[in-house]
Amino acid sequence: MRAMVYRGPYRIRVEEKDIPPIEHPNDAIVRVTLAAICGSDLHLYHGMMPDTRVGMTFGHEFIGVVEEVGPSVQNLKRGDRVMVPFNVFCGSCFFCARGLYGNCHNVNPNATAVGAIYGYSHTCGGYDGGQSEFVRVPFADVGPTLIPEWMDDEDALMLTDALPTGYFGAQLGEIREGDTVAVFGAGPVGLYAAKSAWLMGAGRVIVIDHLEYRLEKARTFAHAETVNFAEVDDIVVYMKKATEHLGADVCIDAVGAEADGNFIQHVTSAKMKLQGGSPVAINWAIDSVRKGGTISIVGAYGPMFSAIKFGDAMNKGLTLRMNQCPVKRQWPRLFEHVRNGYLKPNDIVTHRVPLEHIAEGYHIFSAKLDNCIKPVIVPNAH
Ligand SMILES: NC(=O)c1ccc[n+]([C@@H]2O[C@H](COP(=O)([O-])OP(=O)(O)OC[C@H]3O[C@@H](n4cnc5c(N)ncnc54)[C@H](O)[C@@H]3O)[C@@H](O)[C@H]2O)c1
Ligand SMILES: [Zn+2]
Ligand SMILES: [Zn+2]
Repeated sequence: MRAMVYRGPYRIRVEEKDIPPIEHPNDAIVRVTLAAICGSDLHLYHGMMPDTRVGMTFGHEFIGVVEEVGPSVQNLKRGDRVMVPFNVFCGSCFFCARGLYGNCHNVNPNATAVGAIYGYSHTCGGYDGGQSEFVRVPFADVGPTLIPEWMDDEDALMLTDALPTGYFGAQLGEIREGDTVAVFGAGPVGLYAAKSAWLMGAGRVIVIDHLEYRLEKARTFAHAETVNFAEVDDIVVYMKKATEHLGADVCIDAVGAEADGNFIQHVTSAKMKLQGGSPVAINWAIDSVRKGGTISIVGAYGPMFSAIKFGDAMNKGLTLRMNQCPVKRQWPRLFEHVRNGYLKPNDIVTHRVPLEHIAEGYHIFSAKLDNCIKPVIVPNAH
């Protein structure tokens, strides 16, 4: 089969690999019909994620058709059209029993913090991902769900990570009726978080980024106010002035460890590797939220981090909530929102790239070229 393969930072190839076999009775092998590149994949692509091994196939956002099932699989059969959440999870451990599918205790011998994620380094379990023609899906009775007949393929694909994560970001913000919600980052996750904030009662939604074409999308897709942080002297001062000098009630970090906006933080993290990443977005969130407010963090951070304004968060009495999104927990409500037309997930898809050209897809998405917001990978297109 053809599969995306990591060769080192900024080096992606498509190579021939063996089709993965059934390794466990509850495995399924899925023939991928669509995959996507996520902002999280960029952390791997840039070499920022510990223990990202050469030879790994990335891709935690994919849908497909069941090719083969192990002997104990009961909920799926060959030919089923399925969507697979980005979390690999067992469904029955202490954490899964509490809905913490991103923190499953049975799927990742390499870490006790994060659970497992398809195609996301050995820190996250070492499972090969779906930017490929075939992928092995462990716990096939637990994660995957049949795609409802009425749902479009690209919408289902957006429901494997980006949309549930944005929605989860809004949920973690504990938004109350009339709240002012600031969303840092206008990538797919931030756009969906902004759109979801209205569903939870926000009275005002402000999206912050420095890419004008993405802010335009935040205005049209998520009906948000926007501000370009590169065009104001100080985004924190701007946010204070915009909120009667109190600060936003809720700030959502949909940027993560590779934030722009501070040259020194960028150099000490991305270039010199003196810290695990650049804490700019999270610090702006801490400074822009009002005292007693809530910060929701869905932007991704590696295991070690530094230079976060933790003391300010403490002295402001903030609530900080964060996690990898437990995708499957979000599906029932999101299916309803998609079905009744409130959300059209694939409105944010900008690029459709054949698997053979995936290296170009990574480059365009990483360098934010060609107004790219969300690239979709099509395995069987040539
Ligand atoms: N928690 C989870 O389960 C989960 C799931 C998916 C993605 N993520 C993470 O969410 C983050 C966003 O993902 P995405 O796919 O939208 O990525 P993306 O790279 O497309 O978007 C990030 C956006 O943030 C903007 N940005 C950079 N610095 C900023 C700053 N200081 N302030 C405001 N905006 C800034 C960028 O210009 C970009 O538009 C990533 O860190 C990703 O790893 C987490
Ligand atoms: Zn992702
Ligand atoms: Zn579990």
